[in-house]
Amino acid sequence: MSEQRPTLTTRQGHPVRDNQAMRSVGERGPATLENYQFIEKITHFDRERIPERVVHARGTGAHGYFEAYGKIGDEPASKYTRARVLNETGVQTPVFVRFSTVIGGKESPETARDPRGFAVKLKTVDGNWDLVGNNLKVFFIRDAIKFPDMIHAFKPDPVSNQQEPWRFYDFICSHPEALHMVTWVKSPWGIPANYREMEGSGVNTYKLVNDQGIAHLVKFHWQPKQGVRNLTSQQAAEIQAHDTSHATRDLYDAIERGEFPEWEFCVQVMSDGEHPELEFDPLDDTKRWPEDRFPLLPVGRMVLDKNPDNVFAETEQSAFGTGVLVDGIDFSDDKMLQGRTLSYSDTQRYRVGPNYLQLPINAPQEKAVARTNQRDGQMTFYVDGGEEKHINYEPSLLGGLGEAPQPEKDYHQHVEGHLGRYQTSRTADDYQQAGDRYRTFADWERDDLVNNVGNDLKKCPEVIQLRMVWHLWHCDEDYGRRVAEIAGIDLEKAKALQPLPGKPAPGENRPGSTYSGGQPE
Ligand code: HEM
Repeated sequence: MSEQRPTLTTRQGHPVRDNQAMRSVGERGPATLENYQFIEKITHFDRERIPERVVHARGTGAHGYFEAYGKIGDEPASKYTRARVLNETGVQTPVFVRFSTVIGGKESPETARDPRGFAVKLKTVDGNWDLVGNNLKVFFIRDAIKFPDMIHAFKPDPVSNQQEPWRFYDFICSHPEALHMVTWVKSPWGIPANYREMEGSGVNTYKLVNDQGIAHLVKFHWQPKQGVRNLTSQQAAEIQAHDTSHATRDLYDAIERGEFPEWEFCVQVMSDGEHPELEFDPLDDTKRWPEDRFPLLPVGRMVLDKNPDNVFAETEQSAFGTGVLVDGIDFSDDKMLQGRTLSYSDTQRYRVGPNYLQLPINAPQEKAVARTNQRDGQMTFYVDGGEEKHINYEPSLLGGLGEAPQPEKDYHQHVEGHLGRYQTSRTADDYQQAGDRYRTFADWERDDLVNNVGNDLKKCPEVIQLRMVWHLWHCDEDYGRRVAEIAGIDLEKAKALQPLPGKPAPGENRPGSTYSGGQPE
């Protein structure tokens, strides 16, 4: 048996004749410094870890494919977008998906109450398209500058190293735009049963651009064919008592069994523009686009059918970013999307290294081979300039890489405005959609929600308790009243609070009103 095995070597290709003992002077004597084989082995081991992701550290991945229906609803997809990945039928686009939780470290329990990450890398014939989403369709904040504050508040206290409810609700108290997301996360939707029975959403607003250069605003969503299943706090605690990896196990085992999970890819579209007629801002990611007015239109399907061969090489080193779009899909002015787009590739140059895009898991597929004039840097292992190796600049009269042809009609956005810091979105009634959500939950979901928030608030100082009940009461009177009862908070005292300084009172910030920190003249 052992004769047939391939020989173990060092990284330099030298056969290893003894992997059991280091070289030493005599049986009991000291080891020597020229112990190259030992030194190579141990120093590589010393470097086995890279920094974990600053958020979404705990995750699991799978490979699969995406197929477009060639239609958006009943219309040809090309009416909205020239992106071939959404237009062309009969093509299987390879995908890699990483699911995750947000706040806990790399080995944290997967039963955590947390949004779930749903990041998809589509290796299209026109280069990569990353759709870095979550399971819920909204988010806590709408301006990227708040993200570090939010994550600090949700992560453990820097002194006690404990995740504390008072830190979470202290942040929420000053950010009423988060109430909608909080209502989702503190309900059973905050603990999906596993990754297969879970929705996905790009959350932020993008644009689809067609070959006439016309743009539409778009939201992207993944709807699971397996259905949606969520857990109560009690059910999650029971699983966590004996399994901290249940979601990874569930996905891995299902794929090994040949039960391949599948999602339908859907879009919501609206014409490009400001939409003053709407009671919400389509660029505000704390609000949903109501599905009765903006239906989910099927566009394609995704199947996951292969587990990674190696978790580190693929899942851990995979790098997704919101800036990674293909022709026909474009950025909107959603401020979260714009801030995120800087953050992902920045952290990945630090976390994985400047040449992270050369790694097979991140590199584009064969039909979209990368050919750049970027050179060198840590861990370069190939030169991606194509046949010509000398001309690493552009343009050149002698050869080298040339630009791609311009599309006949491109999309040109007209932008005009006063430079400033605009603190609220145009139409930000931050209480309405949170209240709608409360009212439309099933009874058991509402019961779990008020119990979770009420029990959390018991551990918070009075100033936070009162402000949270005030906020929830403005979302829905019953919501505020029930939470106050569970937490033992004086509802009348909470209701008597004044609106937060500098924030519009509930219901005051209506369509058409613009608030900014310093109005332009
Ligand atoms: C991961 C930043 C908002 C979904 C990350 C990472 C950073 C980051 C730095 C680590 C990436 C890595 O190490 O590879 C931000 C910032 C945000 C923001 C600055 C707001 C301004 C969001 C939102 C969503 C989201 C709104 C959901 C739509 C994800 C997912 C991952 C991630 C799914 C994990 C990707 C993976 O599996 O590798 N984010 N994020 N993030 N973020 Fe965000």
